[in-house]
Formats: sequence, C-alpha cells, structure tokens
Amino acid sequence: MKAVVINEFGSSEVLQLKEIPKPEPKPDEILIKVIYTSVNYADVKNRTGNKAKAEFPMILGLDAAGIVEKVGASVEKVQPGDRVICFPKRGAYAEYVVASDLLTFKIPDQLDFKIAAACPTVGFLSYKLTHDLAQINQTDTVLVHSAAGGVGSTIIQMAKLLGAKRIIGTVSSLEKSSLPLELGADDVYTYADFDEKIKESTDDKGVDIIFDSQAGEITKRSMDILSHFGKLIHFGNSSGGIGSFNTKEVHASCRSVLGFSLGTTRKERPETLEPVARQLFELITNGKLEIQIGAEFPLEKIAEAHDLISSRKSTGKILIRVSRSC
Ligand SMILES: NC(=O)c1ccc[n+]([C@@H]2O[C@H](COP(=O)([O-])OP(=O)(O)OC[C@H]3O[C@@H](n4cnc5c(N)ncnc54)[C@H](OP(=O)(O)O)[C@@H]3O)[C@@H](O)[C@H]2O)c1
Repeated sequence: MKAVVINEFGSSEVLQLKEIPKPEPKPDEILIKVIYTSVNYADVKNRTGNKAKAEFPMILGLDAAGIVEKVGASVEKVQPGDRVICFPKRGAYAEYVVASDLLTFKIPDQLDFKIAAACPTVGFLSYKLTHDLAQINQTDTVLVHSAAGGVGSTIIQMAKLLGAKRIIGTVSSLEKSSLPLELGADDVYTYADFDEKIKESTDDKGVDIIFDSQAGEITKRSMDILSHFGKLIHFGNSSGGIGSFNTKEVHASCRSVLGFSLGTTRKERPETLEPVARQLFELITNGKLEIQIGAEFPLEKIAEAHDLISSRKSTGKILIRVSRSC
C-alpha cells in the first residue's frame, strides 16, 4: 500500500510517498481502507520534531475516515463495508490503517462521508473542551484563540450552541475574521491588542472562559484578562513557547487552569469517546454544527497541505483525499 512516511524531522520535504506493507488487525482491531485523512496542526509539530519522539520510519496523521475492510475476531461493533471514522494505531497518511474497536466509530447513514471525515480530531476535541471542561453557560463571555482554524471554528459553533453570552475570537490577521464572525463570534481581534480591547469592552472584568491553543506570551496575556471564577482551558502550544502563571493568580480569584489532550484520552480513557461520537454525529446530522472544510488535497500533495497550515493562512479543516473509491 501507499503511505506518506518520514525518515527524519524537517520541512515538508521530508514527507515521502512510499510503498509499505499493508497492516493486519489484531483480534480487537479493525482494518480500514482510508478514503480521507486530514492535517492537524499536531502533524506539523510531529514532522518538525517538536512533539513526537524519533522512531523512524514514521507515518504521521491522527485521524481517518474510510470503509471497514476486515475485522479482528472479537470485534462486534462494525463489519466489512461499514463507513467509519477512526483514530488509527499508527499514522493515518496511508491507504490502509488499523484502529482499535474503541477508537472506531460508525458513520450514520445520513451523514455525508466528507463531512464525517472532517470531524474526528476537531469535533471530539471541541466537544470535550466546551461541554466537559468549560461547561459553557449563558452568562459566559468566551475567548477563542486561533478562531479561524479547524478547532477554533468548531469551538465557536459549540459555544454558540451552548448559549454563550458573548464570543470573542483572535486571529493573526483580520483577513481571517470573516469565518469566525459568520459562525457566531461577536468580535474578532488580532493578537496585537486583544487584551486591551477586552479590558475596555468588559470594564476590566475580563472574560469567563478562554480556550488557549497557543501558550507562550498569549497564555500570560490571557491570564491577565480572565475574570474571577473564570477558566483558562489550555490544549496546545502552536506558538512554540511555554505559557506560565503564578499560583497566586488562581486561588484568591477562584480562577482555574485546566488542561486537556485528546491523545492522552485516546490512550488512557478511549471508552469515554463513544458518547462523544454519538453527540457529535447528532449535532451534525441535525444541522446544528457544520465542521468547516477549508481545503482539500490529494495524498500526493500532502506537503502543500502542511505548508498551508504552517503559513497561518488556512481556515477551517484541511482534508486529504487518499482514495477515490467512494
Ligand atoms: N489537546 C489536543 O488534544 C489537541 C488536539 C488537536 C489540536 N490541538 C491544538 O489545537 C490547535 C489548533 O489545531 P488545528 O489542527 O485546528 O490547527 P488550525 O487552528 O487549523 O491551524 C493552526 C493555527 O495555529 C495558529 N498558529 C499560532 N501560532 C502559529 C505558528 N507559530 N505557526 C503556525 N500557526 C500558528 C494559526 O492561526 P492564527 O495565525 O490565526 O493564530 C494557524 O492557522 C493547535 O495548537 C493544536 O496543537 C490540540
């Protein structure tokens, strides 16, 4: 089978299309013919050596959508021919992947394949962040950093669905502000002065919930505009820096800093994701949530997809077409 393999960390040129053996499922695993995979920002960090340990040859990619080809002896939830999304055991940039049955989810019949393909990482993550960690309610003013991206544009829609009182997004360039505004953001600011604008517009009270996927100085500036009883939800470090805060910044003000990783959840609590899949599919099939697809590339052009997300010019989710058999 064809797969995109890396043998060293580096620029997008290290992504090489190669012929490698097709994987075999174990008893509790499923072999899936991949129709779509996607690019997540974590793939860029893994490619450049800022996240993954060096275990070459390495296949990147966190999620895939495809058709069940073969199931292990103990698998009951799906059968060959079923359309599924999954979080594969190894990388997803490949014609076939193997995934645990706990991390494979059947796509409802009425759900378009491409839309389903866009939702695994951004949909599951945004659901957990907004519903379980932040528990957004109607009195909350919410700040979403990198609001035009795959995760950011999904968080905005979920915050809106949960009835947030006011939603503010940040972007690196106002050219990207139209998508978050269309999806429900009330204001979009740039990183240059988001904190000043928020102080002004909230009479120095600040915001109740902050979704921080940036870290570095953005975390510090975000803590300065987090209201009493507010929550900063930290789930990424796209800036490449490390964020910091003082313990005295949290206790007297009753503020919390919460962290979340879908990767750790997949490894240690995979069973908690089945209810998330159900809720997510329901939101999408009811037309309440529309995962935004910003671009699509064929597998052979995956390097261009990586360059696009690194350029900070992408909006929404970037899909990768692996096979044309659907
Ligand atoms: N915790 C988890 O389990 C988990 C899972 C998935 C994703 N994430 C995190 O969620 C965030 C969004 O992921 P995504 O896949 O949806 O990506 P994305 O938001 O579609 O694209 C990445 C965005 O990051 C922003 N960014 C900030 N600093 C950057 C830099 N130095 N270089 C390039 N881009 C930079 C850019 O938006 P602006 O220029 O507008 O800021 C860029 O568009 C990432 O931090 C990712 O690591 C976490």
